[in-house]
Amino acid sequence: MPALLVAHHRPGFYFRVLQEGEVGAGDDIVKITDGPGRISVADVDALLYLPGHSSEQLQRVLQIPALSRGWQSSFQTMLQQDLSSETTVGNPGLAYEEQAPAWPGFRQMRVANIDKESDSVTSFILEPIDGQHLPVFQAGQFVVLRLLVDPGEPPVLRSYSLSDLPGADHFRISVKSELNGIGSSFLCNRTKERDVLDVSAPRGSFTLRPGQNPVVLLSAGVGATPVMSMLHSLAADRSQREIWWIYGARNRLDHPFAEESRSLLKQLSQGREYIVYSRPAAIDQVGADFDAPGHIDTALLERIGVSRNSDFYLCGPPSFLQNMRDGLRNWGVLAGNVHTEIFGSLEAITPGMAQVVHTPHLPQGPPGSGPPVSFARSGITAAWDRKFASLLELAEACDVPVRWSCRAGVCHTCMTGLIAGSIIYNPEPLERPAPGNVLVCCSQPNAGVTLDL
Ligand code: FES
Repeated sequence: MPALLVAHHRPGFYFRVLQEGEVGAGDDIVKITDGPGRISVADVDALLYLPGHSSEQLQRVLQIPALSRGWQSSFQTMLQQDLSSETTVGNPGLAYEEQAPAWPGFRQMRVANIDKESDSVTSFILEPIDGQHLPVFQAGQFVVLRLLVDPGEPPVLRSYSLSDLPGADHFRISVKSELNGIGSSFLCNRTKERDVLDVSAPRGSFTLRPGQNPVVLLSAGVGATPVMSMLHSLAADRSQREIWWIYGARNRLDHPFAEESRSLLKQLSQGREYIVYSRPAAIDQVGADFDAPGHIDTALLERIGVSRNSDFYLCGPPSFLQNMRDGLRNWGVLAGNVHTEIFGSLEAITPGMAQVVHTPHLPQGPPGSGPPVSFARSGITAAWDRKFASLLELAEACDVPVRWSCRAGVCHTCMTGLIAGSIIYNPEPLERPAPGNVLVCCSQPNAGVTLDL
């Protein structure tokens, strides 16, 4: 229905009340004035939701002061993409769309080196076995590894941030050894140099934004990995911005990249560091190993002179992220200046439905006979069954956190990264997303697929 309404230029809109009064059946509705450009509501709606638009139309519609901020920013994003590229793919006005991944599915890479970064974090240097160049990823992006932990079981999928300089001839991931972590135990305890691993193309939207504001790289524990790559990138560019490296660890033994971060900060004209240890050991020295005992919070940021107008990049355990996000908001930082990396499931969007969080599981009943569908963030693989109308329905049957709104291929809320495999659309969405992404509400697998859900 939503797709039909939009396609037939009958979207239906609420009116904003400018002046209260009585309205009754039989009253005439009289148009008293035109907006700039005389563009109808249906045309504005079609510009956002239907394929095919021109930069000139976008520029005209951006002159309408009555458009809400949300619509204005959607059209701004579309216009920027129009001006920066010759071909438009997907619809950046509806959802943030990454560039298409550098390769579909998984590529085999050899473990060239294994380096211990701290008591609990180990780095793996990965090189392509085909000798071909690696793409230049964006600092902050991650890769998905397909690990054959148990030959009799389906492979395990795990996401790891790239922690090195983009553009090197290798990838580096840095993994924290977790006591009961299937993926991290396999990597840290069983993987050896020269082993071959299946690695996806880099992806993710937790990347440095251009600008002149100070940059605050704020992390804790193994959350240092994506911001480490950002620090490399800023140092390589000899950035003139004020750059803060603020990091929380337990103590010196659990402090990865200590030397690496210090030497990168020295290459920056305005590089600053502040290290906090939550449980410093007796031999850890204030001033040499760390700056203060305790935890990172906004009181600390204020004390050391971090500006509220900075761009903040956060990565760390969920409780750290939640506290920092709440703290930064209360401190008066604009939401648009706070960027967060989330490794688990993304927050679900299920309008009108109470959110009950369950652990993802296989769907009830006998398994389907279709191709395997893997949900990488949730760590489960379920066989496709034709009783589901869409990948979204299968994800819901598995209690995988999902995001949707129209469920009809219009709004792009359900857009998900397609890490591997291929899908078909039925029904066809109004506008397809960029390659490497899929609208799960109106698609089905036509071979095994791996989704970033
Ligand atoms: S396009 Fe709207 S939920 Fe899928």
